[in-house]
Amino acid sequence: MTNKLILNNVDKVFGDGDSSVKVLNKVSLEVKAGEFVAVVGPSGSGKSTFLSIAGALLSPTNGRIIIDGKDISKLSEKKMNRIRLEKIGFVFQSSNLIPYLTVHDQLLLIPKLARNFNKKAKQRAVDLLERLDLGHRSNSYPQSLSGGERQRVAIARAWMNDPEIILADEPTASLDSERGRSVVKMLADEVKLREKSAIMVTHDKRMLDLCDRTVFIEDGKLSELT
Ligand SMILES: Nc1ncnc2c1ncn2[C@@H]1O[C@H](COP(=O)(O)OP(=O)(O)O)[C@@H](O)[C@H]1O
Ligand SMILES: [Mg+2]
Repeated sequence: MTNKLILNNVDKVFGDGDSSVKVLNKVSLEVKAGEFVAVVGPSGSGKSTFLSIAGALLSPTNGRIIIDGKDISKLSEKKMNRIRLEKIGFVFQSSNLIPYLTVHDQLLLIPKLARNFNKKAKQRAVDLLERLDLGHRSNSYPQSLSGGERQRVAIARAWMNDPEIILADEPTASLDSERGRSVVKMLADEVKLREKSAIMVTHDKRMLDLCDRTVFIEDGKLSELT
């Protein structure tokens, strides 16, 4: 099976009656193993909504989502949560770190939630922090980190459960361009080397050459940019 993530004819409507807004309109996308897709488009066009649906954080109004061969469109909340924990790593624009946990413990929270906390998970946290140049920050709390460091912790955390699919919503917004590029390059390498799939929403056109292809969302419609 080559498609890790399939969205098929997805609609998303917020609200109901006269005040309802259709934010996504028959959006379809297939992402293969080893493929890194960029999403661009104006602010308010539905990019974050799209990413949330792709990652089972939000249910679609219509349409199907297939994650790693499994149709999740009609699963219970509990099953959806499980699939999200096992298969998906999120990186958001703001790092969303937990203020009272050290960098190391932010990472370990993930295997704890997934109930597979063990020696291997501990080692993985150490390795990831090293790789993202955060080894010396292991025992620090978020408030003492720079914006760039926080974002790298968020990225390390997203990789913690070794997800098949990585979804990143403007992950470089708080990084300087050099650091931003190196983080996206790392993501691109991980995708290629380990046959992962990734979708990244970005405003930064300089990142697009690191992706395999770019899609465009405008007024809730998705189109391929070629
Ligand atoms: N939970 C929500 N309830 C109502 N409207 C929402 C909600 N989330 C997003 N929207 C609206 O959907 C549109 C698309 O938002 P979003 O997906 O965040 O766009 P983008 O990420 O491209 O800037 C916006 O008009 C936004 O106000
Ligand atoms: Mg957004």
